[in-house]
Amino acid sequence: MFVPLVLAAAAGLVPVCLTQLADTSLFPVGPLASSDIKWNTKVCDVTNYGNATADLGPPLLAAFNACSTGGVVHIPSGTYSMSTFVTLSGGSAWAINLEGTIERAGNVTGGNMIAVTSSTDFELYSGNGEGAIQGYGYKFLSQGSYGPRLLRLTNVTSFAVHDIALVDSPAFHFVMDTCSQGEVFNIIIRGANKGGLDGIDVWGQQIWIHDVEVSNKDECVTVKSPAHNILIEDIYCNWSGGCAMGSLNAGTNISHIQYSNVYSSNANQMYMFKSNGGDGTVTDVLLENFIGHNNAYSLYINGYWSSETVQPGDGVLYDSITFSNWIGDCANGSQRPPIYINCPASMPCTNITIEDVAIWTDAGNEEYYKCANDIDSHGYCLNSDIDFTPNATVTSTVTATPSGWAAPYMPSDLSTGFATDSSIPVPTVPATFFPGATPVTPRAYQESSTYEA
Ligand SMILES: *[C@@H]1O[C@H](CO)[C@@H](O)[C@H](O)[C@H]1NC(C)=O
Ligand SMILES: *[C@@H]1O[C@H](CO)[C@@H](O)[C@H](O)[C@H]1NC(C)=O
Ligand SMILES: *[C@@H]1O[C@H](CO)[C@@H](O)[C@H](O)[C@H]1NC(C)=O
Ligand SMILES: *[C@@H]1O[C@H](CO)[C@@H](O)[C@H](O)[C@H]1NC(C)=O
Ligand SMILES: *[C@@H]1O[C@H](CO)[C@@H](O)[C@H](O)[C@H]1NC(C)=O
Ligand SMILES: *[C@@H]1O[C@H](CO)[C@@H](O)[C@H](O)[C@H]1NC(C)=O
Ligand SMILES: *[C@@H]1O[C@H](CO)[C@@H](O)[C@H](O)[C@H]1NC(C)=O
Ligand SMILES: *[C@@H]1O[C@H](CO)[C@@H](O)[C@H](O)[C@H]1NC(C)=O
Repeated sequence: MFVPLVLAAAAGLVPVCLTQLADTSLFPVGPLASSDIKWNTKVCDVTNYGNATADLGPPLLAAFNACSTGGVVHIPSGTYSMSTFVTLSGGSAWAINLEGTIERAGNVTGGNMIAVTSSTDFELYSGNGEGAIQGYGYKFLSQGSYGPRLLRLTNVTSFAVHDIALVDSPAFHFVMDTCSQGEVFNIIIRGANKGGLDGIDVWGQQIWIHDVEVSNKDECVTVKSPAHNILIEDIYCNWSGGCAMGSLNAGTNISHIQYSNVYSSNANQMYMFKSNGGDGTVTDVLLENFIGHNNAYSLYINGYWSSETVQPGDGVLYDSITFSNWIGDCANGSQRPPIYINCPASMPCTNITIEDVAIWTDAGNEEYYKCANDIDSHGYCLNSDIDFTPNATVTSTVTATPSGWAAPYMPSDLSTGFATDSSIPVPTVPATFFPGATPVTPRAYQESSTYEA
């Protein structure tokens, strides 16, 4: 059976091909005006709008209302308790300068501590690199429940979020829902060692996410549908679930996605595409320069992801996906194959390429690769033919160490996850997010001896 492609790229997309994605000048991202211009327009200091240390919520909303058509909402150094959560809607040409720490208080169980919606030309940043949101998630998690999320941007265009720490969320840390022309960088996220505490989830278009560290045991930096023209690079999943695409369902529409320089240690996977039924298309994806250590799965397309209930549709079409230059080690390659392609039998993957993958097993002396339901694809256990038998599986056993598998480590990987019953300290934004790499944009946080601009 040959499945004709219906490419999302046919209609109306910004014509950016994958090699061009790396050049973000071709799709402008970030705020339209610099924060200097906004500082000169108007400054709304939250401490002038009520008792911001007692409960930041009402003063933050009032400061936003005063500066929402242009200016900076300034949250000075210090500690701010926040028990009233806010939705900051409809701003333009504005920024939040977060120099202090916002600490969740009270007992609100749902929603988002800070939601920014329908804004344009927006920046959330710390100038001293000490800005943080502390969710004290352990107070919920230790009772076996989840609480509010920390930060959500919905329908925000031309924006940046950078140089802040998001810590111990009682649920997801940072969601970008239907956003565009955004840049996210120099971010550290530390959540507990538990599912449901996603790091960054993003959907929308023309977004560049780089230099991010996540610890949490769920999504590291994950793309959801619909999404187009998203570049994600220099990502450190330091005891995390790992990066992924999904979970996908009916009407999936994803194209032109690139991840480069992704380091994953003790994660559930280095990268997983995940769906269970559903329909629509994922096309034109490049996943290059991945390093993994001791992850459960590594390179993984799973069209039968059992954690997702079966969605209506014959299966999501995974097309034109290239995995290139993946090295490192996995936990047990004879238990979970480091190359595992399991596409929907009724919607086989097309034009998958796997090249230069060398991942060896930490346990034992052999591993295997497993591929099923792919056509017109190349490398390892993939099927280069355009015919296939549904659910026929190609398994190859590997008994010799693949050449070039040994990969560098980050300076200090986590050896265990963060507990769910004690507070997680607020960290500073680290100096590196990928072995040998320094942040594309220098961090705001400056250490006297090790920092070099
Ligand atoms: C996919 O998304 C693009 C960009 O938003 C849009 O132009 C296209 O119509 C969508 N395709 C489908 C099949 O929905
Ligand atoms: C602000 O609230 C804090 C905490 O409730 C309190 O200690 C402080 O006195 C208040 N400040 C003012 C100026 O009322
Ligand atoms: C609920 O509020 C009380 C009183 O402020 C506090 O002691 C407790 O930790 C809060 N619970 C959560 C889950 O934050
Ligand atoms: C998205 O935000 C813009 C303002 O930037 C607004 O005009 C538009 O109505 C919003 N769209 C939705 C669906 O909320
Ligand atoms: C196959 O995938 C590669 C890499 O994404 C792409 O350059 C090429 O155009 C694709 N071929 C077809 C026939 O779609
Ligand atoms: C690795 O997996 C194999 C197959 O499931 C199992 O027999 C073996 O005991 C595992 N090794 C370790 C160290 O867990
Ligand atoms: C292929 O395998 C999947 C998952 O095990 C199963 O649900 C499906 O029915 C199989 N399809 C065919 C055509 O055998
Ligand atoms: C990974 O997380 C651990 C625990 O917080 C921390 O000690 C370590 O510095 C982190 N690694 C890096 C390179 O930031």
